[in-house]
Amino acid sequence: MYKQALRLMIKIMGHITQDDSGLYPISTAKYNGKEKTNAVVMTPYGVYHNLPEGSTLLSFSSLCQESNKFVLGQKFSNRFKDLKSGETLFGNPETGSFAHFKEDGSIKVFSASGKEIEITKDFVINVGGNAKITTGGNVEVIASGSGSLSASNWSISGPVNFTDAVTMQTTLSIAGIDFAGHNHHYTWTDGGGSSNTGGAQ
Ligand SMILES: [Fe+2]
Repeated sequence: MYKQALRLMIKIMGHITQDDSGLYPISTAKYNGKEKTNAVVMTPYGVYHNLPEGSTLLSFSSLCQESNKFVLGQKFSNRFKDLKSGETLFGNPETGSFAHFKEDGSIKVFSASGKEIEITKDFVINVGGNAKITTGGNVEVIASGSGSLSASNWSISGPVNFTDAVTMQTTLSIAGIDFAGHNHHYTWTDGGGSSNTGGAQ
């Protein structure tokens, strides 16, 4: 009985479309010029795909019965290649987007659409060392709630433009002059003399 169960009929077929809406993903494929629609697309656990047209299918028929057919698919024409020994890459060959687990332990995530990462809930990044973001373009941070920045010391180079009110909770020094506590020196000629004004109010 076990010998019978292992008796597989293997064929190579050309994938056309995949119905991905049912309990099983079903491939419509061409073999010897005929369309067949009863092949279940098999993938490793946790891996899902909808094969594009032009994929090559390796078709297995359990007990040599056409009705019990399942396929493994791959599209070779635009596959990711030049991986180094041991490297792993998950991606969409149709768009070019991928997550690449490299041989040096680094991970490269690339989105061909330019929308790099989309997260629908909270997002936390913990970095044990220094963090650096380098961009060839502009940086824009938009929050529908409030924003908060915290560090022992901030250094900002380049002009800063505030488009709304600024409130200082402590002292503000401009070119070494305390904004709130400074006064102005003045002189007068009638009788001669000089003094300082009171502090700013
Ligand atoms: Fe002043």
